[in-house]
Amino acid sequence: MRRKYIVGNWKMNGHITSLHEAQAIEKAAHAHPGVDVALCPPFTLVMAMAKLCPQLGVGGQDCHTLDKGAFTGSVSADMLVDCGAKLAIVGHSERREYSHESNEMVRNKASAALGAGLDVIICVGEPLSVREAGDAETYVLGQVAQSLPMALLHAPKRVAIAYEPIWAIGTGLTASTDEIAAMHGAIRGALGSAANDVRILYGGSVTPDNAAEILATSDVDGALVGGASLSAAKFVPIIAAGEGASNT
Ligand code: PGA
Repeated sequence: MRRKYIVGNWKMNGHITSLHEAQAIEKAAHAHPGVDVALCPPFTLVMAMAKLCPQLGVGGQDCHTLDKGAFTGSVSADMLVDCGAKLAIVGHSERREYSHESNEMVRNKASAALGAGLDVIICVGEPLSVREAGDAETYVLGQVAQSLPMALLHAPKRVAIAYEPIWAIGTGLTASTDEIAAMHGAIRGALGSAANDVRILYGGSVTPDNAAEILATSDVDGALVGGASLSAAKFVPIIAAGEGASNT
């Protein structure tokens, strides 16, 4: 049985003064023990949030492929562990697009994260033009095949895949539950012996209004939430929906 996993991605948002939101989210996570809850703030807040909210999984939004070296501006998985992180997101579509990250780079980052002892969330998802051309499944399964590290086979419970159609991120559009079920089923089918253990999350404009329906969709093991994770007022009902969906 896979536990529902509700993860917030704060992207480039949040200051020290935002930590009270994380505390309120931690309190809600405590009240919903049937769900795993994690928050990925900007690097600047990882250490403070991990200290303040020991019951939350706190994570990074990216990590480098290597442990250390002359890579100005980068942070390694080992450094994330050093400041209390328990997980890292890799391959988010914003990094694939703006930082030109290839599937190979994403796979190497995922290996680095697992090697350092972090859980990892590997993001995949198609642009609108690909969906409109009817090629979404081929595109996403190609990303899955090329972005997943071999190490996954030894630690499938520490790996989640987030399916985030790019056209649904931050737009208020969501994929229909039929589209989500079809894609999650296809991803599950491609996971071989890891299929029972890897959690597949949906992301893209998840809100308190649509979370219950999405989280009850077959093969959806959780949600990766951007905008609605910035405030406890919006994120807590999504955590509650996760618990509700676990109980059905
Ligand atoms: P959104 O972002 O919930 O704001 O659409 C999701 C994500 O990019 O992970």
